[in-house]
Amino acid sequence: GKPIRIGVMGSGNWGTAIAKICGENAREHPEIFDTQVHMWMYEETVPYQGEQRKLTEIFNSTHENVKYLRGVRCPSNVYANPDVRDVSSRSDILVWVVPHQFVERICHQINGSVKSGSVAISCIKGVSVQEESVSLFSDVIQKHTGMYCGVLSGANIANEVAREKFCETTIGYDPDDTVNPRFTPEVISALFYRPYFRVQMVKDVAGVALGGALKNIVAVGAGIVDGLGLGDNTKSAVMRIGLMEMQNFGHVFFNCDRLTMVEQSCGVADLITSCLGGRNHHCAVAFVQTRKPMHVLEKELLNGQKLQGAATAKEVHAFLRHHNRVHEFPLFTAIYRIVYEGMPPEDLINVI
Ligand code: NAD
Ligand code: 13P
Repeated sequence: GKPIRIGVMGSGNWGTAIAKICGENAREHPEIFDTQVHMWMYEETVPYQGEQRKLTEIFNSTHENVKYLRGVRCPSNVYANPDVRDVSSRSDILVWVVPHQFVERICHQINGSVKSGSVAISCIKGVSVQEESVSLFSDVIQKHTGMYCGVLSGANIANEVAREKFCETTIGYDPDDTVNPRFTPEVISALFYRPYFRVQMVKDVAGVALGGALKNIVAVGAGIVDGLGLGDNTKSAVMRIGLMEMQNFGHVFFNCDRLTMVEQSCGVADLITSCLGGRNHHCAVAFVQTRKPMHVLEKELLNGQKLQGAATAKEVHAFLRHHNRVHEFPLFTAIYRIVYEGMPPEDLINVI
């Protein structure tokens, strides 16, 4: 059949790194993929070499995302496209990598434009919560666009992956017979596998999605520990308790395989990397030291990149409260109270 066309929705720190990977693989497997990869870029104007320029124009002439992934060159077959409907309508596989707060709006923007029979992969770390229910973004995307949606998540700090430092990732992909059979697990794996980016395919899609979402809450807790100047033992305790709460949450509400969290990159490994060096950890350290609200620190410290952990803590807390299960998740609850309700960070250790 015709080569499979790849679209990447999003061009932030991770979005650009993922587009780089897809571009490399599209080039390496022309028998499977169309070599040109379209990356949807939310257009903005940025200062560049003394003038104001469009980010898409800079990217398409230099192959560098100078705002969100500075210093990394993408392959020249990755094209930054500012038209979101054009990207969705031309793609057979649509890879979603946007901060989670924008997903629903983008689904409305592309309404009716999605190619029939296409599939999606979500690399988004977060959950969508309407108090009484919590949904995975793979399900949100599937519900709004009709595309079957798998999930990619792992211990993957974007700046390191983009510099080709070895890591692993997990892809949850379990399509039923209604999904176009050309999108086999082997094809999905070929789109993402690189020698420096090892892919493990699993069927527990919900477990993969929840690992990436919930570890962001724990990373805020690890940042609080470091902000307080407590030691590595304390941080490890927070990580262990966090891992148990991640596992229980997945098991209780989504019937996930308990082993996904403790055996896969999307669980324990992502938890570790995020608690050592991610953005959520970084901003939580600053939160304890300055006591400024997280959304202020996000603006001050991240140059347009987005935080997911604080928002996820709030969303998960609203859901747990609605279901009267708060007491079963003391760490998630304490992190929420510290960030949003003025609970002293020093009290973290007393309540977990
Ligand atoms: P980011 O944090 O760099 O956010 C910036 C992006 O948001 C830019 O592409 C910007 O154009 C876009 N944006 C800003 N305002 C917008 C608007 N109004 N509408 C639409 N888009 C807008 O993004 P990221 O790092 O690519 O993160 C995307 C997802 O990937 C998140 O769920 C994140 O948790 C996950 N993730 C990130 C990393 C990482 O290390 N950065 C690693 C793994 C997973
Ligand atoms: P942060 O958003 O906390 O930087 O985490 C990045 C990540 O998901 C690493 O796998």
